Amino acid sequence: MSRRTLFVTTALPYANGPFHIGHIMEYIQADIWVRFQRLQGHTVHFVGADDTHGAPIMLRAEADSITPEELIGRVAESHQRDYARFHLSFDNWYTTHSPENIDLSQSIYRGLKDAGLVYAKAIEQFYDPVKGMFLPDRYIKGECPKCGTKDQYGDACENCGSTYAPTDLKNPYSVLTGVKPELRRSEHLFFRLSDPKVVAFLREWTTATPLQPEVKNKIAEWLGDDETGSKLSDWDISRDAPYFGIEIPDAPGKYFYVWLDAPIGYLASLKNYFDTGKARANPTARETRTFEEFVALDSEVEQYHFIGKDIVYFHTLFWPAMLKFAGRKLPTNVFVHGFIQVSGEKMSKSRGTGLSPQRYLEVGMNPEWLRYYIAAKLNDRVEDFDFTPDDFVARVNSDLVGKLVNIAARSARFIAQSGNKLERGQDFEVRHRISASAAGELIGQYYDRREFGRAIREIMVLADQTNEYYDRMKPWELAREPGTLPRAIEVCSECLDDFRILTILLKPVLPELARGVESFLNIGAQSWVDLPRHLPAGHVINAYAHLMSRVDPKQIDALFDIVPDPSPQPSPSGGGVGAATTVGPVATISIDDFSKVDLRIAKIVNAEHVDGADKLLKLTLDVGDDRHRTVFAGIKSAYKPEDLIGRLTPMVANLAPRKMKFGVSEGMVLAASGDGSGIFLLAPDSGATPGMRVK
Ligand code: 2FM
Ligand code: ZN
Repeated sequence: MSRRTLFVTTALPYANGPFHIGHIMEYIQADIWVRFQRLQGHTVHFVGADDTHGAPIMLRAEADSITPEELIGRVAESHQRDYARFHLSFDNWYTTHSPENIDLSQSIYRGLKDAGLVYAKAIEQFYDPVKGMFLPDRYIKGECPKCGTKDQYGDACENCGSTYAPTDLKNPYSVLTGVKPELRRSEHLFFRLSDPKVVAFLREWTTATPLQPEVKNKIAEWLGDDETGSKLSDWDISRDAPYFGIEIPDAPGKYFYVWLDAPIGYLASLKNYFDTGKARANPTARETRTFEEFVALDSEVEQYHFIGKDIVYFHTLFWPAMLKFAGRKLPTNVFVHGFIQVSGEKMSKSRGTGLSPQRYLEVGMNPEWLRYYIAAKLNDRVEDFDFTPDDFVARVNSDLVGKLVNIAARSARFIAQSGNKLERGQDFEVRHRISASAAGELIGQYYDRREFGRAIREIMVLADQTNEYYDRMKPWELAREPGTLPRAIEVCSECLDDFRILTILLKPVLPELARGVESFLNIGAQSWVDLPRHLPAGHVINAYAHLMSRVDPKQIDALFDIVPDPSPQPSPSGGGVGAATTVGPVATISIDDFSKVDLRIAKIVNAEHVDGADKLLKLTLDVGDDRHRTVFAGIKSAYKPEDLIGRLTPMVANLAPRKMKFGVSEGMVLAASGDGSGIFLLAPDSGATPGMRVK
């Protein structure tokens, strides 16, 4: 097998706050792939950096009364601490606010200018006269030009969904000072993305590059064809002072827009890694080339970028075009992933989700559980996936610990009876109907294609087969008689060798567990070539020490800050059920107050028990629109799930979603209850249909 050299990056996180789960998910995906390639014997240089420029970072620092340099310095510390804590194997972590990035950005810009692809044009933009700066779209608010809703951002209305230019807003105001912004003209620099030679190049590059099919489709829409023509507009790459960024050569008072220098930050981090001697010192790389040789046009180095689906445009159009016309080496591929949602809740780029990676570690959860869970959910498509606490606990406790780690725990018991000395039994193949190297081949292909979920499923099937063998051979019975004890040792030695193989197959995902296993088995660092080898007869292992614990449901409660029972609201039964009670009168409300409640007829399309919940049923409701809602209702004492399916009942459809221990509840069904026991779900007269408004 030829030894390849790979340069791999993940999207550079803005330096304005700690990592959220979306960052960690992407880094885990990339890290698994990188570690897999290293285990194949390839050389990988895996780099990251903070994305430090732009108005939001400048303004955030100002609000905190610190310099932008101080802000990005603090954030850099938190990022570097956290990536190490999730066992991410970046070879270098740097910053876009660096001499390397200034040089590279200015040099790439000059290249584009020399290629005739940069021009200046005056544009009109909102300017805050009090603050003395031009306002980015998200710092302007006003009334939606379509529906009149107040306090909408300068690009889109959250109420009616229409998109527009900030200059279309009615009664615009600056978010920074509250004053009415003025329109001012200023000269901006543009990159000529619409130039026929750029469009032709992008059509060719995106055809020749093995991008994911859904990414290709999206790009094809943007690029059009000869008949439809491209929809690309030229790209505004400059911003006026004050701006925290890189100065544009020969354009005083103008800075590169942050998205120009951000991807160049990939190269800046790589250059820093080379120039500081780290690439040469890296024992797995032993790279002797200079940075310039490494990224030369004719270098055989493969370059891969892992990114999220929201920044495809930047990475598949702007970035290759910039590199191409500045005469530089192009990316080999761009790998795009979807978003991670937590219990169905979409992640917001600025706020993340309720799953904080820092909190995850603080409550003592094992980073390798998360790596395993994320691997089990990932595939090679641009699909979102859901983190649900129940699913997480089940996969970690039942599969990872219950099936895999348990092989070691149960086998080690009897090996101890032989002074921890192994016997040599039959091959892996006999118990699994596939040889260890064939398993490595198959699972290796899944890893290589980023089909991590399939890799994990395949590995768990193999773990099941080892466990079945163990159960069939009953070493606990064999070990009772001196005559059959050697056979018990043999069976357990076979299972431990299987365990070694399974651990290698999982090593890209669980590097720390693998280290623990290597030390327990008293063997050197394993890699893919070790799959078909054996633990020889007579090999002495170490006494079994605990390798990995199970998730404690209390940790999940602590992670999501869940207050244990009694549930705070709504009463009396704790879940998403509103109850008509016989308790005394309440304050009057106006008809306007009442009309704020969106009561709708819902059809219960599914009802089920919730593992571990005493009072709740999980209902799936159809309210006549295109999505089903989940509601946790405290009606378990009164109804069997199967009796509810198909029934109609009124629900509060506009209740803010509430995160509960078992998931997010998206509404409330209505039921009557009195002082005694009994809960009575309301039902409409016949003729009502899902989605009808209740008034
Ligand atoms: O979207 C983001 O979070 C950007 N900071 C990603 C930049 S990726 C690369 F271009 F630097
Ligand atoms: Zn609107």
